[in-house]
Amino acid sequence: MDMFVVRGGKPLKGQVRVSGAKNAALPIMAASLMADGPITLHDVPDLVDVRTLSQLLGTLGVISERQADNALRLEVIDDSPVVADYELVRRMRASICVLGPLLTRRGRATVSLPGGCNIGDRPIDLHLKGLKALGADIRIEHGYVIATARKLKGARVFLGGSFGSTVTGTCNVMAAAALADGVTTIESAACEPEVADYGQLLNAMGAKIEGLGTPFLRIEGVESLAGAEHHVIPDRIEAATLLIAGAITHGEVSVENVCIDHLSAVLDKLNDVGVRIRIAEDPGGSDRSTLHVLPSEKLTPTECSALPYPGLPTDVQAQFMALLSRADGISVVTDKVFPDRFMHVAELVRLGASIHREGQSAIINGTEKLHGACVMACDLRASAALVLAAMAADGESVIRRIYHLDRGYEQLENRLNSLGADIRRMNDCEENVPVSLRLPQSIENSSSLTTSGHVEGAARLEDLRQIRVDSAETLAPLQSPAASKAKQEPAS
Ligand code: EPU
Repeated sequence: MDMFVVRGGKPLKGQVRVSGAKNAALPIMAASLMADGPITLHDVPDLVDVRTLSQLLGTLGVISERQADNALRLEVIDDSPVVADYELVRRMRASICVLGPLLTRRGRATVSLPGGCNIGDRPIDLHLKGLKALGADIRIEHGYVIATARKLKGARVFLGGSFGSTVTGTCNVMAAAALADGVTTIESAACEPEVADYGQLLNAMGAKIEGLGTPFLRIEGVESLAGAEHHVIPDRIEAATLLIAGAITHGEVSVENVCIDHLSAVLDKLNDVGVRIRIAEDPGGSDRSTLHVLPSEKLTPTECSALPYPGLPTDVQAQFMALLSRADGISVVTDKVFPDRFMHVAELVRLGASIHREGQSAIINGTEKLHGACVMACDLRASAALVLAAMAADGESVIRRIYHLDRGYEQLENRLNSLGADIRRMNDCEENVPVSLRLPQSIENSSSLTTSGHVEGAARLEDLRQIRVDSAETLAPLQSPAASKAKQEPAS
């Protein structure tokens, strides 16, 4: 397993380009199951999640081939398989996006339920409700969703839930409706740009979908869908992460390939916090801008809530919290999409942040200095928040379990290093932990330790590390180093 060793305190400076959006690319790749010809996608980031989905699609008869410039070509060569196996699905929740395409194109889908998740409950009841409304027969057996339908029929579907709409659920129902008989209307559809991008691809394949980007979709079913070529939108979450990287290090960073229309809530909040950003629109008239983060004097505290789009994305909540931990006063961050998505709080506290959780909110008492520590990433965006905080901290930090980060950011450390950060990817072993972070002799030799329960007598360094790992295991299933990346936790 890899870890990061981060030496903090360096203001970032330079230019960096945003990659294609992971959360657009994944459902879009799954849509290739419905195409009667090849799908060529441009700007598909080279991520672990993308590779996992290619593997899953491979088991479903789709060959995928990486091409130059981050293009990916997908083509169905066998349209008989209908089973998405647990071993692959549990590694990535976005695997659920094969459900709608398989059902509508092949008449049957047996897709494993993804299982638990570190960011909170992730039910799929709305996906199933939508597919049932179109006439699918659905049952759950032995941890699998078994969906069948000879021919789906257009219907009126309401996709709102207690926490808003559903992003991947809207994609699944849209896909199913695209090849159904008649007209489907989806009310309370997710409006996230990734959902609109998915719809754009379906339309390029010959679907008839209106209302993309709004909560009301009208889908007129067609007989078949053809191959197509499509450019994936830039990743707004990565863009926000890079902007915050500039701000938190008091750096001067230019972030290229940003759709500012997708980032309104983020830019508005950064402005509230006192982060100065200059926008340079593309002189060629495209919707891709370059955003220049300028060094800010001090950061102002704020209150913010993660909400469905166009609100502040839950996927930047952790990174924002890292930023606010350096603001001059008390901030409150609430997550209304995933109210339990706060596992990063305890790790940010290890880096010197002063954060206290209250229900679905966290109260952050900004501090001038963060300090290096050993921390553990618990999900993709939490990993990004820890990298940001570690870059802003004095001294060295170790971030473990960075396989979470690799799922959703392409070579983040290399890109941050190109801006002047000091992040080394190393094998996670005791020798690679910087001396500054090894346990002080005084603690090592102490006769009792009470933090995590019951260590009596002389505590050796290995014992203490083991305790740290064991307590983390109660939060998320731990993979042994030998189990390596193949056994990753189910995640977003
Ligand atoms: N929900 C239900 N029932 C459902 C589906 C969702 O109650 O059937 C609830 C969820 O529990 C949650 C809310 O609705 O409270 C939103 O969940 P949604 O279904 O929209 O999430 P998702 O489609 O599973 C996508 C992203 C996530 C992102 C969320 C919210 C992908 C592959 N994943 O997940 O991305 O956080 O939307 O915007 O698109 C990430 O990239 O780190 C990540 C977690």
